[in-house]
Amino acid sequence: MTRRRTELDREAAARRAAELRRQIAEHDRRYYLEDAPVISDAEYDALFDELLALERTYPELVTPDSPTQRVGPPELTTDFAPVRHAVPMLSLAKANERSEVREWMARMRRQLGLAEDVPIRLVCEPKYDGLSVELTYEQGRFVLGSTRGNGLVGEDVTENLRTIPSIPARLRGRGVPALADVRGEVYMPVAAFEALNRTLSEAGERTFANPRNAAAGSLRQKDPRVTASRPLAFVAHGIGRWEGGAAQHCHSRTLATLERLGFPVSDRRLVTEDLEEVERYYEELLAAREHAPYEMDGVVIKVDDYALQRELGEVSRSPRWAIAWKFPPVERTTRLLDIQVSVGRTGALTPFAILEPVVLSGARVSRATLHNEDEIRRKDIRIGDVVVVRRAGEVIPQVVAPVIERRTGRERPFVMPARCPVCGAPVERAEGEAVAYCTGARCPAQLVQRLTHFASRNAMDIDGLGEKLAQQLVERGLVSDVGDLYALREEQLLGLDRMAQKSAGNLLAAIERSRDRPLARLLYGLGIRHVGETVARALARAFPSIERLRAASEQEIAAVPGIGPVVARSVYTFFHTPDTALVLDKLARAGVRLADPVEQERARPLEGKTVVVTGRLEGWSRTEIEELLERLGARVASSVSKRTDLVIAGADPGSKLERARQLGRPVIDEAGLRQLLAQHGVPLPEEQGSPS
Ligand code: IVH
Repeated sequence: MTRRRTELDREAAARRAAELRRQIAEHDRRYYLEDAPVISDAEYDALFDELLALERTYPELVTPDSPTQRVGPPELTTDFAPVRHAVPMLSLAKANERSEVREWMARMRRQLGLAEDVPIRLVCEPKYDGLSVELTYEQGRFVLGSTRGNGLVGEDVTENLRTIPSIPARLRGRGVPALADVRGEVYMPVAAFEALNRTLSEAGERTFANPRNAAAGSLRQKDPRVTASRPLAFVAHGIGRWEGGAAQHCHSRTLATLERLGFPVSDRRLVTEDLEEVERYYEELLAAREHAPYEMDGVVIKVDDYALQRELGEVSRSPRWAIAWKFPPVERTTRLLDIQVSVGRTGALTPFAILEPVVLSGARVSRATLHNEDEIRRKDIRIGDVVVVRRAGEVIPQVVAPVIERRTGRERPFVMPARCPVCGAPVERAEGEAVAYCTGARCPAQLVQRLTHFASRNAMDIDGLGEKLAQQLVERGLVSDVGDLYALREEQLLGLDRMAQKSAGNLLAAIERSRDRPLARLLYGLGIRHVGETVARALARAFPSIERLRAASEQEIAAVPGIGPVVARSVYTFFHTPDTALVLDKLARAGVRLADPVEQERARPLEGKTVVVTGRLEGWSRTEIEELLERLGARVASSVSKRTDLVIAGADPGSKLERARQLGRPVIDEAGLRQLLAQHGVPLPEEQGSPS
């Protein structure tokens, strides 16, 4: 009886193992060849771990081609010549919990016969979420570069790697080895990834799911010129062969050597003998992850001493002397329960996903953006699908892709409603436009968003007027446009939720203070379609009063530098709509400033210069510094290029600074900026008194 059951179990296990191998092979293909995975790393790991467990229980089920017996994918067809790694490129054992890291330490101690109190020196580095490559240098010259491939054989991507600015073509300084294999990670900085996806999406092309896929897709291009156009970076984290140079004895020294030879290495590395310090490092890195300029998916902990590394050796696919302590996943799958539509201030309808809640990078997520109808169609996302959801950095959670394999046939495609879900007015989508709009002139949802936008920090900056309050003002019929805000009275406010005398007083005072904002903020605050902060400032410069702007023809508006025909049309139409006239009259009657004071000829020391600001400045908010720079004549750009004249780098500057350095563009910090302003007699923020 018992034997029979075991036989059945074994059969079921064999079937399951075969199924798991099939699935893993499929996901490998998608991941390595198509750079378009449909499941998250965590789910892939779960499949893999399940197979490992089965094979451990039934060792006779292990097949030579099982994914557990190798690193990476099996023979996959490829466009690149194979490269055999002289020293195999191994993988890393994983830990999810600190207890697993402790067990790993204990295992090493047992194997090395070391007591508790004998220290083992460890090196910690971020685990970069990119793809690993090997760079071979002969006599200091970069001669061959390859991907990891299956760990033994990778792909020849030399010409593509040559286009990455942070990979040195030649090694510098003393002690250049005769032959060296330098290993590391190719990745795409987060900001560059977002910019690339924006460009791809505007061109109607397929976007990348995450920076790792973007890096892989960019590196595995047949045409190196395409790779060259993609902002890739490299960071070194180890070596293979190392001959004819000073022998390397430990990892930390190797990293220092690599740095001296011209390779970027992690600037956050930690060398320690104290496991508690490792744990603190993990926590710090985890906290820094959201704002880091590149993606990391954990911490790699390595035994520093090469002699100890050799003694520990490796087991199947990973060394015993290293471990990857993973961060909680930023990507997971969950069920898409519904797609609903929100109404923005311009009436734009944005579909968003209602999800079965999942925890992503530590936060519970039950909603995610879906951008627009075309994007949903392009990605073939359907209601009821199991979808991959991603939340990285500060970005709003996104639905990345559906998991087609898990379709049941009951999924429904999304259809944009024909009528606004809030006011019932017809929905319109213009030819060639990606966005559908609610046409209701009195749509309360639009009004709530318009009020919130008007009051927002970079617009009229009315402290305390957020979406919840705006909602109540609209529901109670207290305001029907932004002009009505200035007629609000204390007794009207007192009836609202959580509105006591003090908060009502504060709100009225905040509204009062907003009467005197620069014209550009008012223009931005009015929520004219296509008018963002930059356009608003360009308009205010060209037409320093509402009166002049109202009197301008469409052609005159289109003649303003930085303003195209679509924007001009939208601005002109806005100012020639009866509703606008009503609002502007109310604002004028309420004493809201509708013109900028005439500026005396001031020094414009940055006339014609293109300036990029990155990182946090102490003295100015982002809007304030952009306003200031533009007043000084600069054009403020969002990304660094060869045409950038100056980069102003504040705290935590990120990849723009890196790019500026790569391109050799001049960089100044906040102190440098203050100096520059002082030289031209521009008052510094402290001297202007505290901002209101
Ligand atoms: S050391 C035998 N250090 O993680 C150890 N790897 O899962 C070799 N990775 O293939 C790797 N950051 O692509 C090392 N600081 C780091 C790393 C790192 C990312 C990747 C690497 C490797 C994979 C292993």
